Order: sequence, then C-alpha cells, then structure tokens
Amino acid sequence: MTDARISGLRSVELGVPDLEVSSDFYRKVWGLEEIAAEGDAIYLRGTGAEHHVVTLRQRPKAELLAVHFSTSDRTAVAALHARAKAYGADAVSELTELPRVAGGGLGFRFRTPEGLPMAISADVAQHADVIADRARPTKLTHVVLNSARIDDQTSFFRDLLGFRHADSTDMMEFIRCCSDHHSIAYARGTGPSLNHMAYEMPNFDGLMRGAGRMKQNGFNIEWGVGRHGPGNNIFTYFIEPNGFVTEYTTEVEQVDEATYVPNTAEYWRNFPGRPCRWNMAGHPSNRLKAAMSGELTTDENLRCEEVMARTLGR
Ligand SMILES: [Fe+2]
Repeated sequence: MTDARISGLRSVELGVPDLEVSSDFYRKVWGLEEIAAEGDAIYLRGTGAEHHVVTLRQRPKAELLAVHFSTSDRTAVAALHARAKAYGADAVSELTELPRVAGGGLGFRFRTPEGLPMAISADVAQHADVIADRARPTKLTHVVLNSARIDDQTSFFRDLLGFRHADSTDMMEFIRCCSDHHSIAYARGTGPSLNHMAYEMPNFDGLMRGAGRMKQNGFNIEWGVGRHGPGNNIFTYFIEPNGFVTEYTTEVEQVDEATYVPNTAEYWRNFPGRPCRWNMAGHPSNRLKAAMSGELTTDENLRCEEVMARTLGR
C-alpha cells in the first residue's frame, strides 16, 4: 500500500441545459473567466493557479457530472487508480491522458459507493499568472454532498483516498485533504446528490463585493452573511440559474496537519454560536433548503430561469 492520497480539490463539472446562458452567469456575475471551450464543454478559471474550477457541459437537465481532485504526481495518480480497482470502487475508468484543452495531465474517473461521480488527476497545467481581484473567486474550496449512507461515504474517502476526519455535527461529517478545514462534507439526508459548492474569496471585503454583485443582478442572499461553526468560515449562499446552490466563502480555518483534533457532534451541539458564530445569519431560506436537497419545485426552477433571463438581458 502506497501513501498516495488526494491533495486538493480542483473543480466541479456541471451539466447545464443552456450552455451559453450558464457561461454568461459564471463569467459576468459569479466572477470566473472562460479559458477554453471545445465540443459540449466550457472551462472557467478562478483568479488562482488552478487550470479551471468549473466545467460546464450541455446536458438535457442540470446535474453533477464530477467532482475533480488533485494528487501530487503521475506516480500517485497511478497508485490511486490501482487502489480504486483493488478496493472495488464502482465504474473505475482507465487511466487516461487528459485533453490538452482541459490542462492535460493523467487521470481517471470513478464513483462513490452511492454512485456520485468523481475524478482524480495529476500533472495538469497550472496558471503562472495569479489575478489580483478580491471580488472574484480564487478557487473551489469545498463541495458538500447529500448522503443517505454517510458512514460508507466517509470510510470510502478515508480508506481509499486518504482523507482525514475534520469535524462532526448532528447534520454533517467534514473531511479534509489539505490545510483547509474541509474540502468535502457529507450532509445526512436523502442523497446521493450535490448539496452545494463553495468558492473562496480572498478576504471579507471581496466576499461582500461578490455578494453585492449577485444582489445587483437579482440573486437573493439565501443564507448569510454569517460565520460557520465548523471551519470558522464566513459564508453567503445563493441559488445559481440552474438551481445549484453556490457559496462565496472566506477565512476558512487552516489546520495544522499534525496537531489538528476534530470536534464531536456533542461539542457543536453545545456551541453558543449556532448556526452562526456572530448570531447574525439565522437559518437558511426554505428555498435554499429545497435547493440543497435537490428538491426545488418546478415553480422555483422557473424563477431561476426568470432571474437568469432578466440578469442577462434576454
Ligand atoms: Fe459550505
């Protein structure tokens, strides 16, 4: 057994019913930059070094197509591929040279025990230029997934992929793969599905500027601005035009890999600042709760489309 493991979160790959409109939103409103397009896909970067943080693909309906992770090098990705096959992970693809348009590198795809699509890659091109703009996202910093079999998911990520436990609450399990307090969390629920994705803003002022841009374009703050308990990050949540929940966040707790000690659900149950350390944010809107659990009604989806049309002047 090698010590190869996941070293970070790269990007999310989203199926969207209208590629052009979704690209407009992610570029003009969310603050990403299109760097490549080919076939049914558009790749968008943040201001950090990661080649792309979002891939949009034309699909009949909105769906999560993959969460992409990094590992240290080609040897590590090959070791993780062999380990995934030996572990009996579902739908493990061949180890493949990745398209140059997506930054190249070596990688493979697989599914979690509940069937959620994942991918691991190494040796992907990085941007030499880091853009200084605090109002735009630097990177994808965490993804939260709904799970009906949370113990299976957590052990899969720990034993196969090398994640470590970060925190537990009654609602969620947080796991980490780098100095960020968490890169993945599982919400106890109906799953499997995408609960939300979070993008790091450089600082609090940048987060507020991004949130203001969203408001000016017709997207309500559905939860926040507040500061979470686990992870200590400042948050603000929105529903993007496809019905996915998306978060601007900043000041995510940085943990010392060697000394960090996770807290228990009991600890957080008795924590005074719930659900916001500032006692500011209150609870998420009902609309956000529905979107997080993948249960937005048709009416709500129509509202998303109206906002998108108004936003983009169509
Ligand atoms: Fe979050």
